[in-house]
Amino acid sequence: SDEELISRAYERKHLLGEDLFVPGHHYQKDDVIRFADETGDSLQLAQVSANNQRAPFIVFCGVHFMAETADILTSPHQSVILPDMRAGCSMADMADKDQTERAWNHLIDLFGDTIIPLTYVNSSAEIKAFVGRHGGATVTSSNAKKMLQWAFAQKKRILFLPDQHLGRNTAYDLGISLEEMVVWDPIHDRIEQGADLNQVKMILWKGHCSVHENFRIDHIRHLRENEPDRKILVHPECTWEVTQAADLAGSTRFIIEQVEKAAIGSKWSIGTEMNLVKRLQSNHPEQSITSLNPEMCPCLTMNRIDLPHFVWALDEIFAGRLTNQIKVEESIAKHAKLAIDRMLGV
Ligand code: 13P
Ligand code: SF4
Repeated sequence: SDEELISRAYERKHLLGEDLFVPGHHYQKDDVIRFADETGDSLQLAQVSANNQRAPFIVFCGVHFMAETADILTSPHQSVILPDMRAGCSMADMADKDQTERAWNHLIDLFGDTIIPLTYVNSSAEIKAFVGRHGGATVTSSNAKKMLQWAFAQKKRILFLPDQHLGRNTAYDLGISLEEMVVWDPIHDRIEQGADLNQVKMILWKGHCSVHENFRIDHIRHLRENEPDRKILVHPECTWEVTQAADLAGSTRFIIEQVEKAAIGSKWSIGTEMNLVKRLQSNHPEQSITSLNPEMCPCLTMNRIDLPHFVWALDEIFAGRLTNQIKVEESIAKHAKLAIDRMLGV
């Protein structure tokens, strides 16, 4: 039963003590997040992993690319464990190394040495390594603006992987027009539509988050008509149209902060993953919080980390087995770390 699993998890955690560190992303289930030593958005979790050089076991409650980042940033004596190997990210899967190399060669032919690559942390270690090798950096949803400014200070153009929406939303906020952005289609190895290539500043990889794409402009229109006093707060993985029509957009941490500092009786409609929206609802009964899509939008892969898998991961450590370890190959880790360190240094 859940009660048995919960008490077993508490007992195991207590016995492992300082040997165990549990980072948990804001999209994790309540059942799991209750055991997290630190919770955070992607940037915070990268930072806490970099800061914890002590615990030999890191049971990462989040998705695969986050566990890879933790492995890259921690010491060799530390092992990062993902409680369920199926906890991937469909967005990260939208860019692979071969596609990226083909795109880069094509773009270098077109634009010469005027491009720098940036990748959202929601990408594989291989993509981060590619970006690191070519002078670029990673970005998260909470530092994307700063990182684009950093990149534009060096080169005229950015190849932004793999989330077109975060790339477009952030560049637009910096005053770049939609006409100055093109989409790279990695399936057909080409730039979409006939743009004036001379004015291109952003080359957006054609990737997206299948969870955040479920928040649509018709949800916003419906809300504006029926509940005009409800503030709309979305994650920048939502489309440009949705992000523009919303009142506020920002990372998971930004979303939490807005609700935490709001007055009693505030009304919100939130466009992000279901577990976070539900947690905000239960932590803030003094406010009225709904999901922008009434059907609620779960990230199925984040939700693969559930109580049984979490307890099983602790049981395995307890039995002396290193199961589901996420280990990034040294040659990849070295270059991926360059890209992550550049971000952490900006
Ligand atoms: P942040 O926590 O950085 O806002 O990212 C959200 C996300 O989609 C993680 O997969
Ligand atoms: Fe990936 Fe979207 Fe899930 Fe985040 S919410 S892990 S971007 S699929």
